[in-house]
Amino acid sequence: EVADKGQYRHYMLKEIFEQPTVLARTLQGRISKTKVLEAAFGADASGIFDKVEGVQIVACGTSYHAGLVAKYWMESIASIPCQVEVASEYRYRKVFVPKNTLFVTISQSGETADTLAALKEAKKSDYLASLVICNAPNSSLVRESDLVFMTQAGPEIGVASTKAFTTQLIALQLLTIALGRRHGLSADQEAKMVAALATVPDEVAKALTLDTEIKITSEKFADKKHALFLGRGVEYPVAMEGALKLKEISYIHAESYPAGELKHGPLALVDADMPIVAVAPNNELMEKLKSNLEEVQARGGKLFVFSDQASAFPSSDDVTVINVHSVPDTIAPMVYTIPLQLLSYHVAIVKGTDVDQPRNLAKSVTVE
Ligand code: G6P
Repeated sequence: EVADKGQYRHYMLKEIFEQPTVLARTLQGRISKTKVLEAAFGADASGIFDKVEGVQIVACGTSYHAGLVAKYWMESIASIPCQVEVASEYRYRKVFVPKNTLFVTISQSGETADTLAALKEAKKSDYLASLVICNAPNSSLVRESDLVFMTQAGPEIGVASTKAFTTQLIALQLLTIALGRRHGLSADQEAKMVAALATVPDEVAKALTLDTEIKITSEKFADKKHALFLGRGVEYPVAMEGALKLKEISYIHAESYPAGELKHGPLALVDADMPIVAVAPNNELMEKLKSNLEEVQARGGKLFVFSDQASAFPSSDDVTVINVHSVPDTIAPMVYTIPLQLLSYHVAIVKGTDVDQPRNLAKSVTVE
């Protein structure tokens, strides 16, 4: 078992550092220089995709967060309505299914009881077809779905999901493009997105070089009881995933908020004892996010900002800025996830928790 970890102290760290390799593997054979090769979703995919007018995504945990990222992509890039729900809620409510909706499950293990039950419910409803994005071949979800996209993350042992998440994001962006080209996404736009996707393994490798800087920063979290993660737009679910990672393995209570919602509650909690982590690539929402963060600072909050140089975030005693290499907006969620994974890992190490086997949690929840 020790040998499997190679040079790494924990499976989680090994899996974080494997991401450039497994992301490249997940893209391999799925894109040409300019196009998504949609046969990766199954032989019947093209005929089904032609009819899709909406998407319903259902998943749990980290996989649910991947789905939330995809909602932003589906609506802004593919011009298709997209709903996302946790499986434990979806499976027990009466749902309205709009015409020609594709039912999509996302699961690392392919065995999560709630997700599987949701798929079984969905099959009784009027969906066009079902698609699973999964990392485990021959799993129950794979067997039960009409279309299958296999992520190529390889076995994930750490309970806190890392490489499965970023490979799911790749799969979801390929799906977005495949559906988008039927709804106004031009060949040029597709080629641009595909070119950006091809750089993800390298950009993720660059983000991993922030490891030492993040390790030093993590010490400032050691005595904290709470943390707040902020993002706007597609970076909001990235912030949610960052908060989940910190909760799972360091046992620090972490909450995520869309930055614009701060003023409706969490601002009351801000003081010097609550670190605020911001996911802040230099996108169209940057200026808005900056003013949200100024409000936090004015209340004595300590900020940790993951940003790129172009955002020109000034660092100070109260503001730690960690610069991520500038990347196109379409791949920012994959890249900004990396420093958040590293942050939770190093905070857990400082706190001395069991990183690979956090208390009370299981890798795969196969009972309700
Ligand atoms: C458990 C794991 C999480 C995972 C979730 C969903 O809670 O600890 O890491 O995200 O299940 O699992 P799945 O295999 O369906 O992605």
